[in-house]
Amino acid sequence: MFEHVQPYAGDPIFALVDAFNADPRPAKVNLSIGIYFDAQGRLPVLPSVQQAEARILAAGGAKPYLPMEGDAACRAEVAKLLLGAEHPAIAAGRVATIQTVGSSGGLKVGADFLKTWLPDAAVWVSDPTWDNHRSMFEGSGFTVNSYPYHDAATGGLRFDAMLATLRGLPARSIVLLHACCHNPTGVDLSPAQWDALIPVLRERELLPYLDLAYQGFGDGIDEDAYAVRALADAGLTFFVANSFSKSMSVYGERCGALSAVCASAAEAELVMGQLRFTVRRIYSSPALHAAKIVAHVLGDADLRPLWQAELAAMRERIGAMRRALHDRLVARVPGRDFGYLLSQRGMFSYTGLSGEQVDALRTQHAVYLLRSGRICIAGLNDANVGRTAEAMAAVLD
Ligand code: LMR
Repeated sequence: MFEHVQPYAGDPIFALVDAFNADPRPAKVNLSIGIYFDAQGRLPVLPSVQQAEARILAAGGAKPYLPMEGDAACRAEVAKLLLGAEHPAIAAGRVATIQTVGSSGGLKVGADFLKTWLPDAAVWVSDPTWDNHRSMFEGSGFTVNSYPYHDAATGGLRFDAMLATLRGLPARSIVLLHACCHNPTGVDLSPAQWDALIPVLRERELLPYLDLAYQGFGDGIDEDAYAVRALADAGLTFFVANSFSKSMSVYGERCGALSAVCASAAEAELVMGQLRFTVRRIYSSPALHAAKIVAHVLGDADLRPLWQAELAAMRERIGAMRRALHDRLVARVPGRDFGYLLSQRGMFSYTGLSGEQVDALRTQHAVYLLRSGRICIAGLNDANVGRTAEAMAAVLD
């Protein structure tokens, strides 16, 4: 029956984590997957989440199915977090938000919805993008193309080339955009660049699909939602998939959401209906515990500011590690420009290291990063940053 099944080569990110875990060398450094580790190299349990869970447990209660669209309190909090509590699109009923199984669940539900309702569209992703974007949209039946994005020569953005490509797309093309903390490069559009992009999206009648997996790790919760709010302010119709995996350090709970900002309340209702149907056909309904965590943390007058402070501390520690790695590399490899470490934002930077140099880092120095050269800054700490800089310098020499 299954003799013809092709072997799975494995996922490049998860396979690297497996290899890291199996590595017996005690001084190994994990800069592979997009997970925030604290200054001691541990996966943190945020006190805000811990307190929310204590309250959830104390309240007890049965464990019914959630509706297909998820928990109402969670969904309302998500819409306010993305758009700002007072955004007129919310008041007008133009936002259809569903709670999803992580933001990956949201991306997938959105992809299946779009294949049904915009069947002839193609999807355009940044070059490069998170590997799984391509797989997900191809899995939903789309042709996936890429638009220029990262400038390997400068470590910055090819904004003019990006705009030129988007200007040439057929109407109703789907354009996947990273709202902040671009994965894998750490290169983001500035607010002025978002403002310049919006007229192109509107004039070309493109459908923006925002991925917001790292809200709060760039400049701040509100600052990182600039793209979402600017698109909504401009009256565009768009999707946004967001995640709490990183921002609440609840990776395995699968807390995420998908929101469609629509032209009218009537349209939002239609979209909501079909999103519910799409969910029903894939996983029926999302997780109850995930909904309770998000609703408690975002909706509670004590827990919300606590979480915001915890997220700020994570962001600041990543910033400090960016500077620490930068300064050590500048001292160790004079004449080479490491400014990208300071200008790129969020958990990731694109180091420009070749696949061979990345292999040497892993085999000779037990430093793990993606073969694309993507480094997860959040895996650095005071105890391993010096060693990491030495190892990088050694493969660059
Ligand atoms: C990453 O890019 O490392 C994270 O988004 C984790 C994942 O699922 O790939």
